[in-house]
Amino acid sequence: MAQSRWTPESWRAKPIEQQPVYPDAAALAEVERQLAGYPPLVFAGEARKLKSALGKAQAGEAFLLQGGDCAESFAEHSADNIRDFFRVLLQMAVVMTYAAASPIIKVGRVAGQFAKPRSSDNETQNGVSLPAYRGDIVNDIEFNAQARVPDPRRQLEAYRQSAATLNLLRAFASGGYANLENVHRWMLGFVKDSPQSERYQEIADRITETLGFMRAIGLNPEASPELRATDFYTSHEALLLGYEQAMTRLDSTSGDYYATSGHMLWIGDRTRQLEGAHVDYCRGIKNPIGLKCGPSIQPDDLIRLIDALDPAQEPGRLSLICRFGADKVEAMLPTLIRAVKREGRKVLWVCDPMHGNTIKTATGYKTRPTERIASEIRSFFAVHRGEGTLAGGVHLEMTGKNVTECTGGARAISEEDLHDRYHTYCDPRLNAEQAVELAFLVAELLKAERLAQPARPVQAAE
Ligand code: TRP
Ligand code: MN
Repeated sequence: MAQSRWTPESWRAKPIEQQPVYPDAAALAEVERQLAGYPPLVFAGEARKLKSALGKAQAGEAFLLQGGDCAESFAEHSADNIRDFFRVLLQMAVVMTYAAASPIIKVGRVAGQFAKPRSSDNETQNGVSLPAYRGDIVNDIEFNAQARVPDPRRQLEAYRQSAATLNLLRAFASGGYANLENVHRWMLGFVKDSPQSERYQEIADRITETLGFMRAIGLNPEASPELRATDFYTSHEALLLGYEQAMTRLDSTSGDYYATSGHMLWIGDRTRQLEGAHVDYCRGIKNPIGLKCGPSIQPDDLIRLIDALDPAQEPGRLSLICRFGADKVEAMLPTLIRAVKREGRKVLWVCDPMHGNTIKTATGYKTRPTERIASEIRSFFAVHRGEGTLAGGVHLEMTGKNVTECTGGARAISEEDLHDRYHTYCDPRLNAEQAVELAFLVAELLKAERLAQPARPVQAAE
């Protein structure tokens, strides 16, 4: 690929997919000008810290837990929602940390996950055709002509919501809410209430014992900041490039450009064209980058994309977020892994078990059976074990609320139950219990992986 000089706006000369058509170009330019003057949401040093943590994951010394809404919405922006999401993510992280004896890198799909790619530019209902909903940062989900007009001022609203969300998350992560003993107490509540308590009791008891032992020898959250605080990072799809460009800043420490809209940005499966705008934008920023890989990706394309996005082969720079579907992962993943190995490239392999497992019910709900989600994760670990490579993380769509969007789980949500609390703005998410149940599954797999490896020194988390 011809590597022409990169600037934060060089993507504008490339072919681009999935962009809204704004009727008022002057209003759009004005919004982008304002955003460019606003404070960064995240800092270059934080993005570097995440990259170095992901580099450890690449080496098998950490594991990525990335999760959150499919799409954040303006309507669901509340302290309760943010807190409940964060609580579940931390609960998941504790069991996984314990089972893996390895730091879990906590990354939310949050504080910026607003823009959505769509399979069609238009949506038709009862013979009426309107522009598709592209996420709250672009237009309104309501089905009427006025609501669906892309409005650039929504970008300012998304920025403000991201800032407020991040502010709360930063306070939670550092101000005592993430206290390990608290998080474990929530976990005990989950185990007690779960219809499948016995399955979770053993590991919960062992964590209780461990915390008791630590307290006895003087390691407690009051005295040790590492037991009461955690590092938390944000991520979203780098889709709406005008917004991303406006939030791109030159870091004075390194002289490099960073996206400051979130710590980690990923490229969607629909916008990963080698010569396209999204790949161009992402190759120039120094943040850790994710690349979604679906069934249509060819091994040769993947290698070229790795060369474009991570030419220096920097540890932690590139995560391949694989979303094949439970029925395809075993057939497709080995081919990609072998191509990457053959070419001697280094990446972090992450499993997105959500997007390849979406089905439509007879009653018209988009759902995901948790059995298929679990099955894709199991296969992902098995394939890596077979290939001698490492499963480096999971990428989940989840919420802290008790929604009914995915079927299955210990409470056996059925297709008939979906209508009860189906609230998503886009794809079906795991509810709080389903998410924690999945964390126990990942914990088991991580433990098996750890036991299959030669002994190694334990690495501490932050
Ligand atoms: N700081 C450590 C870590 O982030 C331990 C820790 C503190 C923790 N609070 C936590 C781990 C909450 C998981 C969840 O890993
Ligand atoms: Mn989604």
